[in-house]
Amino acid sequence: MKKIKVAVLGATGAVGEEILELLIERKFPYSEIKALASKKSAGKTLEVKGQKFIVEEASPEAFNDIDIAFFCAGGNVSLNLADEAVKRGAVVIDNTSAFRMNKDVPLVVPEVNPEDLKWHKGVIANPNCSTIIMAVALAPLEKHFGLDRVIVSTYQAVSGAGIKGMEELQSEVLDPDYTPQVLPVASLPKHYQIAYNLIPQIDVFDKEGYTKEEWKMINETRKMFHRDDLGITATTVRVPVMRCHSESVYVELKKDFTLDEVREVLAGAKGLIVQDDIENQIYPMPLMLEKENDIYVGRIRKDLYNPRGLNFWVVGDQIRKGAALNAVQIGESMLAD
Ligand SMILES: NC(=O)c1ccc[n+]([C@@H]2O[C@H](COP(=O)([O-])OP(=O)(O)OC[C@H]3O[C@@H](n4cnc5c(N)ncnc54)[C@H](OP(=O)(O)O)[C@@H]3O)[C@@H](O)[C@H]2O)c1
Repeated sequence: MKKIKVAVLGATGAVGEEILELLIERKFPYSEIKALASKKSAGKTLEVKGQKFIVEEASPEAFNDIDIAFFCAGGNVSLNLADEAVKRGAVVIDNTSAFRMNKDVPLVVPEVNPEDLKWHKGVIANPNCSTIIMAVALAPLEKHFGLDRVIVSTYQAVSGAGIKGMEELQSEVLDPDYTPQVLPVASLPKHYQIAYNLIPQIDVFDKEGYTKEEWKMINETRKMFHRDDLGITATTVRVPVMRCHSESVYVELKKDFTLDEVREVLAGAKGLIVQDDIENQIYPMPLMLEKENDIYVGRIRKDLYNPRGLNFWVVGDQIRKGAALNAVQIGESMLAD
C-alpha cells in the first residue's frame, strides 16, 4: 500500500495530540506526519509514544503534498485552511463544527453511516463528541426497531473544552482563590466554577433557549441517520469530570421489544460494549473508561408507563471515539476502499 503523508492541524491540543497517538498506536500507514499549530507553538517539540514531532506554523503551503489532513484547531481555522488543503490534493477530515451541516460535506461515524464517505468532495466532517457517543448506541436500535423519539441529557467532561478546560478544573481544586476564566464559554464575560459544581450550559444559547451543543446533537443525528423527521430533544451539562462524556438516553421505538432483544442487538453492534449487571453494581462510569476506544452502555431498562419506551446510560471517551479515534477510523475506511 502507498504510504500516506499526513498533517495534523491543532497537534498541540487535546484532540490533535490524541490523533498523533492513535496514528502511531494503530499503525496508520503514514510515511510522514506534519504537526501543525499556531505561530506561538512553531518550533516546539512534541513527544508522543516515543516519537518526536517539531511543530510548524499552519499555512496554506504546509499542505503541499499532504494526502490526509486532520483538522482540530477550531472552526475559524478550518474555514480559513480547509479549501487550501483540498486545493493542494489533500482530503480533510475535520473535527470542528465548521462544515458539519454543509450539504456537500458528509458527516460520518463509521459504525453509523459509512456509505456517506463515498460522496465526499474533499472534506469529511467528524460529528460533535456527544453526538458520536449517542449515535453509536442509537444506530443498532434504529436498524432493528426504528426510532420514534429521543430524549437525552448529557454529563460532559471538562476536556470537551480542550486543554484549558482541564487546566481550569485542576486549578480550582488546587487553589481556592483561582478565578474561573474558561467555563462555561471562554468568550462570554461570565464564568463559573466547575469544581464541586455542574453547569447546565455548553456553548451559547439561541432564542428558543437551547445551546449550540444541544442543536448539534439534534441536527447532526438527523443528518447521519438521514431522518429529518426524528424527534430529538437534548439538555447538555458540564460536570467536574476530566475525561469521558456520559449520557442518559430515553428512546421510544417504533416496534415492540423485549429487554433481552435490545441487549442482544446492542451487544452485537460494532464499537459498543454492554456493561449492565446491576446485581453486581456493574455499569459504565467515566473514570474507568478513559482511553477506551469503545462506547459503553448500561442501566438498560423499560419505561414502566410506555411499552415502547427504553432508558439507558452511555459513556465514551470523547477525545478518543468522540473525536480523534472517529477521525482516524474515517481515514482508515477511506484507505481500505
Ligand atoms: N476536546 C474535545 O473533547 C473535542 C471533541 C470533539 C471535537 N472537538 C473540536 O476539536 C477542535 C480542537 O479542540 P481541542 O479540545 O483539541 O482544543 P485545544 O486543546 O484548545 O487545542 C486547540 C489546538 O488548535 C491550535 N490552534 C488554535 N488557533 C490556531 C490557529 N490560529 N492556527 C493554527 N492552530 C491553531 C492550538 O495550537 P496552539 O497550541 O499553538 O495554540 C491547539 O493545537 C475544536 O474545534 C473542538 O470543538 C473537541
